[in-house]
Amino acid sequence: MYATIKSIGAYVPDEIRTNQWFVDRMDTSDEWITKRTGISSRRIAKKDQLTSDMGVNASLIAIQRAGLSVDDIDLIICATISPDYYCMPSTACIIAQKLGTKDIMAMDISAACTGFVYALSVAKAFIESNMKKNILIIGSEKLSSIVDYTDRTTCMLFGDGAGASVISATTDKNEAIVDIQCSSDGNLKDLLLTPNILSGEKQFIQMKGNETFKIAVKTLVRDVQEIMQKNGITNEDIDLFIPHQANYRILKAVGDALKFEDKQKVVTVHKYGNTSSASIPMAINDVYESGKLKYGDTILLDAFGGGLTWGSAIVKFSGK
Ligand code: UT7
Repeated sequence: MYATIKSIGAYVPDEIRTNQWFVDRMDTSDEWITKRTGISSRRIAKKDQLTSDMGVNASLIAIQRAGLSVDDIDLIICATISPDYYCMPSTACIIAQKLGTKDIMAMDISAACTGFVYALSVAKAFIESNMKKNILIIGSEKLSSIVDYTDRTTCMLFGDGAGASVISATTDKNEAIVDIQCSSDGNLKDLLLTPNILSGEKQFIQMKGNETFKIAVKTLVRDVQEIMQKNGITNEDIDLFIPHQANYRILKAVGDALKFEDKQKVVTVHKYGNTSSASIPMAINDVYESGKLKYGDTILLDAFGGGLTWGSAIVKFSGK
């Protein structure tokens, strides 16, 4: 049995927060934000809108596009660093409740911006071991709830949103996820974190931006080279390169180092900012809805985030 990406869906909240919002409140400029990050706007969830609510909206689209009903889903995995509840219950359990699934296994994954790739690798393992048939994986984030809006070095980077995908069992090798590799290094935990529970500080994101930037570029490039080499895949075999959307300068440096052509590179960071675990499924959905992603296309995913965690995946898209 193989695992395949059967569908994609996404949800973004209505509020568009432009760079001017930050210019009006702190010592920054539209020029600085655009030049250093490539971000022009990001979406912000309503006060009473939770990570699970956005996850449910994205999930309903993904389930419908997979030609399935909620009752066909036998596992829910939600990747998030901005859960509805700290510690418990998991956001996946809340999504399961809101979708109305019956007694199925549901769990969260905490791997920051690499969360969707981690979730994909867990789903692949469950399907290949014949334990599950149709798995709903979600990346959903209300990062506006963990961003310090007095810290000008981080607050303009992040946005809210959700993406979801149904990963199904198939016997067709041409549709199969080719390979996924996920890694971590806790020695670099201090680069990007929320305070530990002994500190008594607020739960806001803290980041050593410049150091993180340099390690991100090096790690993302190396990771992609490794997985492509391991699978005997060259640039010509890849239809779309969809990296985690953290900063346009990172996307450009990585894309250039790997020598992908512009038409292969997917960029959404200018309109959504960094949405952590939601950024890759939101970007896949963007190209799907624009008609550029078709059945049988080969996609290369590449992510990097707090932990540190990183991961890449070569997948076939089997949505119709
Ligand atoms: O998603 C997980 C992974 N996340 C990332 O990979 C993000 C990685 N980091 C970044 O995207 C970039 O490092 C930032 C966008 C956060 C910052 O860009 P940078 O080119 O690394 O700038 P910097 O931190 O070296 O700061 C340059 C200058 C500093 O001033 P001085 O010391 O040169 O006088 C900062 O104080 O820019 C200043 N600065 C700002 N100026 C205007 C920092 N934030 C701002 C701001 N507006 N918002």
